[in-house]
Amino acid sequence: MTDHASRGGAPAGPDTASETAAPYGGAPHGGAAQTPRKKITTARIADMHASGEKIAMLTAYDATFAAAADAAGVDCILVGDSLGMICQGRSTTVGVSLEDMRYHTQCVAQGLERTQGSALLIADLPFGSYQQSREQALASAVQLMQAGAQMIKLEGGGWAVEVAAFLIERGVPVCGHLGLTPQTVAALGGYRVQGRQDEDAARMRNDALALEAAGASMLVLEMVPARLAADITGQMRSCATIGIGAGSGTAGQVLVMHDMLGLNLGRMAKFVRNFMQGAPGIQAAFAGYVAAVKNGTFPDDALHAW
Ligand code: KIV
Repeated sequence: MTDHASRGGAPAGPDTASETAAPYGGAPHGGAAQTPRKKITTARIADMHASGEKIAMLTAYDATFAAAADAAGVDCILVGDSLGMICQGRSTTVGVSLEDMRYHTQCVAQGLERTQGSALLIADLPFGSYQQSREQALASAVQLMQAGAQMIKLEGGGWAVEVAAFLIERGVPVCGHLGLTPQTVAALGGYRVQGRQDEDAARMRNDALALEAAGASMLVLEMVPARLAADITGQMRSCATIGIGAGSGTAGQVLVMHDMLGLNLGRMAKFVRNFMQGAPGIQAAFAGYVAAVKNGTFPDDALHAW
């Protein structure tokens, strides 16, 4: 029996590597995190943004992968509603419920807590959980914060800026999300680059500035032309931009974990690099991602951007 099988399979027998480890998933605090690092806080994110240190974010949906990403030095873990595609096999994020998000946020939070993880934990407010009213948004955000999130992410500008301000005033740190906003993919007419027309670019710039003025700590820019994303990043004083398909000029990067491990039920997006290629294992792939984001070799604008 391999060590791997002993963790995820039958209870460990005497032929396993460790007879003292808990049978499933390792002993508390005996897992992935070897060298404790300082907790990543919203203040630390602002410092990284100010100093130019790139921020490495990955999605995670469960305890073990979250702890492994944290141990590899990932700064922020996003429990994305991409779990609709990754974990549930849906074709969009639209069907993900608040209860789904609460459950996966709790799983990730428990994994980080058990391994004394440092990464900042961000969770997505799913479609339909914040569009109705500011009060609905607050009630939804409270559920995710109580499940262990330290920041929530919501999609959109315009009306969503007011919602963000309402949450921030009440002590909920917020990450915005502009560009390709997957929850409204039907209205956008598909997964396509956003902000190519002058009018759209101007709207995105204004939304970004308004989110920062409202107090948003971070802002995901998805499938945005690299020049526009870099331009928006240059205008942000305290709000750290995190790009996905937005070029190398943002304050940080995010990828869906399964994508960067080369696992995908559909077609891999242009902005993804498979970090498993050449890596001896998953932990090394996470470490390779962190290193590439930090040293600026990922993304490569010629390959991964528009
Ligand atoms: O849901 C998600 O995983 C996301 C990231 C791709 C930014 O929103």
